Amino acid sequence: MAQQVKGVIAPGKNEPVRVETILVPDPGPGEAVVAIQACGVCHTDLHYKQGGINDDFPFLLGHEAAGVVEAVGEGVTDVTPGDFVILNWRAVCGKCRACRRGRPWYCFDTHNARQRMTLEDGTELSPALGIGAFAEKTLVAAGQCTKVDPAVAPEIAGLLGCGVMAGIGAAINTGQVGRGDSVAVIGCGGVGDAAIVGSRLAGAARIIAVDIDDRKLETARSMGATHTVDSRTADPVEAIRELTDGFGADVVIEAVGRPETYQQAFYARDLAGTVVLVGVPTPGMKLELPLLDVFGRGGALKSSWYGDCLPSRDFPMLIDLHQQGRIDLGAFVTETIGLGDVEKAFARMHEGDVLRSVVVFG
Ligand code: APR
Ligand code: ZN
Ligand code: ZN
Repeated sequence: MAQQVKGVIAPGKNEPVRVETILVPDPGPGEAVVAIQACGVCHTDLHYKQGGINDDFPFLLGHEAAGVVEAVGEGVTDVTPGDFVILNWRAVCGKCRACRRGRPWYCFDTHNARQRMTLEDGTELSPALGIGAFAEKTLVAAGQCTKVDPAVAPEIAGLLGCGVMAGIGAAINTGQVGRGDSVAVIGCGGVGDAAIVGSRLAGAARIIAVDIDDRKLETARSMGATHTVDSRTADPVEAIRELTDGFGADVVIEAVGRPETYQQAFYARDLAGTVVLVGVPTPGMKLELPLLDVFGRGGALKSSWYGDCLPSRDFPMLIDLHQQGRIDLGAFVTETIGLGDVEKAFARMHEGDVLRSVVVFG
């Protein structure tokens, strides 16, 4: 029997989001129903609401979440009811070419629940990133549930489900930051700060934070940046070179998603250094670079999808490091809010004083 719960719906392009009753079916084969305990508000939720992802309204928003498995469908063996899990939006298939080549973080065939959640009148909902976790309960593919230690508060654990994992992974997985490296991070929101945390964890010697907002630079320092550059008043490329003995950084992580900051990243790295693009550009953005510079400067230009993470490998590992006090995931939680406050949280994103607002369920 389908259950009735409350969830946050984006009804149409740019319309305010609202809390509605939704119907969550019992889990079918390979599926799980998860009682959500906390879910962070991410930019991608706002992009869904603005129609920037696709037009499959109404959306059930929320995708950065932790909760407890309530029920599983036929054939599910990896998780059982009562497990504390972080939801991931890349449940790898294990069968596609990428998976078979041993690179499952590039899986081309990630999956979601087959059944649809609906409104009371039967209208099918499109869950954000195949999750839809601004809801008391949600239906996902069982592979989207990654079991972790329940000792960590859900509002902290859930953040690994998206932005914080993207940033940490951009440093440790995609950028392969190593001991003694110099790293520059351009854009110090939640994702950039997580890249700073990841760089410190990996043993980077110098971590240069670049932003256009003093408050962000201050937070970046508390996250582990050793130097800060305000790119409104200083040329970031020159500043990064100066701070790296004239060479440029070994790894530059772009966490804004704009051509001009990508260009800064490209020129701020040392010869044969690595650029990691984790900021997400919008359609229509173009990049123009002298091809001779692309060739002549060598190195690697990489993009980082979801921090090139493998949830089953990375979530429990990072939870473990958090519990040992070697990273502080709690520093990313600016405020906890109720299910009815998501629209307000979207507004606060623009004010720039929030890393993460997290919806908690009482
Ligand atoms: N130079 C440097 N920093 C900039 C610039 C710029 N030209 N423009 C914006 N910024 C800074 C902002 O001041 C802010 O601190 O980039 C940061 C962006 O942070 P948030 O808006 O909080 O976004 P975040 O959640 O960190 O995501 C960053 O990664 O996953 C993607 O879609 C996401 O593209 C976005 C990016
Ligand atoms: Zn696959
Ligand atoms: Zn997200």
